[in-house]
Amino acid sequence: MNAAGTFSESWLAMREQADHDARATAPLQAAGDWLATRESHAPWQLLDLGSGSGANVRYLTPRLPGPQTWRLVDHDADLLEHALGRCQPLRDMDGMPIRLTTQQHDLNALAADWLTNVDLVTASALCDLVSATWVEALADACAVHRCAALITLSVEGDTRFCTNDADATDRDDAWLFATLAAHQRRDKGFGPALGTAAPQALATAFGDRGFRLVDAPSPWRLGPAQRPLALSLLDGWATAAREQAPHDRQRIEHWWQRRREPLDRGHLDLYVGHRDLFATPEPDHASR
Ligand SMILES: C[S@@+](CC[C@H](N)C(=O)[O-])C[C@H]1O[C@@H](n2cnc3c(N)ncnc32)[C@H](O)[C@@H]1O
Repeated sequence: MNAAGTFSESWLAMREQADHDARATAPLQAAGDWLATRESHAPWQLLDLGSGSGANVRYLTPRLPGPQTWRLVDHDADLLEHALGRCQPLRDMDGMPIRLTTQQHDLNALAADWLTNVDLVTASALCDLVSATWVEALADACAVHRCAALITLSVEGDTRFCTNDADATDRDDAWLFATLAAHQRRDKGFGPALGTAAPQALATAFGDRGFRLVDAPSPWRLGPAQRPLALSLLDGWATAAREQAPHDRQRIEHWWQRRREPLDRGHLDLYVGHRDLFATPEPDHASR
């Protein structure tokens, strides 16, 4: 998120490959099985929340059964324009074209009737930005409409530097990551953000409503091929830490300089923990 509170197309493009590489298999597989065994008839109605430039839809479309009709929602009209251009040519897992519409909307105004006739609601890299209240409202809406949810790439707070796969995180890193976690809980437009509490909040909200959960880690493992993303993250974390702990600027500069050079030279890798969750209303696979 930049200073204006928006996400740039270039940042979303930079992270797309790492996001796709990170995805957990089990929740995706369960989502595909859920669609395939629905008693309602295709085309499946899929709703992607906080779509940005459509990276989640590009990942999911060829891995899910069809026919698929997608609605992509975001408050950023420019990102939706990119999404439309890049997602319209997509095909489902059987090679059939998809239908796709975009909707510019503030997700704060998420109303239960958004999920009317929706089979599967999806979101990636969104739920650490939202509040606990918002997650409860989403789970309520899914329960009312017996809609499944595939919520991916929610940060979980397990962040590490690694050298040859060994943990190289020290006390200063731990302090910086704790400062970052506090910054992630700041209001991102939905009230106090869940930040690293998002995976647990999602599991609790859907679990309490009787959903069956398939939950798995989906960490970024940023090695040499993802160096630009790792450096950009490091710079972003230092900026966030300066905002969160303005009296500790010297400590933050020292940390940033000490970590940036080895990261840039390929002597350090980065591990950033996320989780993917598929939640399905049980026990029946009722028709809509
Ligand atoms: C981290 S990006 C993830 C984008 C995309 N899902 C992906 O995986 O690349 C978060 C997205 O949520 C959108 N967003 C944030 N707050 C929003 C709000 N209040 N209403 C609608 N969209 C919002 C942003 O515009 C951005 O596209």
